[in-house]
Amino acid sequence: MAVTNSNGAIRGFDVQAIRRDFPILQQQVHGKPLVYLDNAATSQKPKVVIDALVNYYTAVNANVHRGVHYLSQEATADYEGARTRVKKFLNAVDESEIVFVRGTTEGINLVAQSFGRTNVGEGDEVIISAMEHHSNIVPWQILCEEKKARLRIVPINDDGELLMDEYEKMLGPKTKLVSIVHVSNSLGTINSVEQIIAMAHSHGVPVLLDGAQAVPHTKVDVQALDCDFYVFSGHKLFGPTGIGALYGKRALLEAMPPYQGGGDMIRSVTFEKTLYNDLPYKFEAGTPNIADTIALGTAIDYVTSIGYDKIASYEHELLQYGTERLSEIKDLRLIGTAKEKASILAFVLDGIHPHDIGTILDTEGIAIRTGHHCTQPLMDRFGVPATARASLAFYNTKEEIDALVEGVQEVLGIFS
Ligand code: ALA
Repeated sequence: MAVTNSNGAIRGFDVQAIRRDFPILQQQVHGKPLVYLDNAATSQKPKVVIDALVNYYTAVNANVHRGVHYLSQEATADYEGARTRVKKFLNAVDESEIVFVRGTTEGINLVAQSFGRTNVGEGDEVIISAMEHHSNIVPWQILCEEKKARLRIVPINDDGELLMDEYEKMLGPKTKLVSIVHVSNSLGTINSVEQIIAMAHSHGVPVLLDGAQAVPHTKVDVQALDCDFYVFSGHKLFGPTGIGALYGKRALLEAMPPYQGGGDMIRSVTFEKTLYNDLPYKFEAGTPNIADTIALGTAIDYVTSIGYDKIASYEHELLQYGTERLSEIKDLRLIGTAKEKASILAFVLDGIHPHDIGTILDTEGIAIRTGHHCTQPLMDRFGVPATARASLAFYNTKEEIDALVEGVQEVLGIFS
């Protein structure tokens, strides 16, 4: 769909109006207007999301699935309403396929401990890639160590793209699961997930996608992708921390044992035998994170009301602009130059530690992340201990990228 008009502006997308929805963006830091370019670490929250939290605790607060009283029923309806929003957001078949978790990390651990411990045995293999976040490495290492299974790593090229030939060679009868990031948090690479899934499925292997960095930027349709598991975090999607969702195909979730035991995940308990609850409650032991779940539903409404076609077009323009401007700087090396990329501008400067870059930019009110970004093996692959990473959201502007470029020039001036 064409979303730009004749002078290149995106129809119906007013970035200044969007910025006014985010109270935090109006503030100053060290006497300078805040330039928030750390969206891959966590995104800012629109007022509607903050209001949803306040409203829940002001007018609704009660436990869910447990009471006949008015407030409990209201809280339950709002909580389950959020599940319906996530189901529609991912285009899952039904609500039973949506499990609320603390975030992407917990979702992956759930699959590793439940699906993994049931289906992975001695000599079996789990495939991940060289660009995974620690949250999509360590749970599989723990599993493979326990089961005497093998973790296989799909290598990448110097642009930060997966070597699909190598991936193909790894798939075989020993492969029990492929778990791959949809969009890399450190490089911005958008992986060819349709192809990854189709190739795995041709060997009868299910695929988990880590969608933490994908959902803020791109529409995800789990049925069209035909992925088996999809995981994301609310706080990267303009919602609260401490809440995320795991999508799983119903037949897989049905066959998996519970991850944790406790209240709400049971149908009946005696000291002799416990019968588990239906999906998705079988995987939601204990009082859930009710307020943040409801506010995640509000965040989803907010993002979808802007529209992913507009978000993607606008962010693509910003990313291109940022890439061009940073590439003009001598001694700056971009880390992550894949052809298909989203929202990440990671770089190193010759002879200057990224922490120094981040600290100097902070004095100008510019927030970026520096470090290994929870992807230490990826840093090793690129031969750097760390990078400076600016990560974009749809409320960022070209003026903010200009501020970043000026800041980097100031850093170079200080160290020259
Ligand atoms: N995974 C988050 C990041 O990339 C925390 O910053």
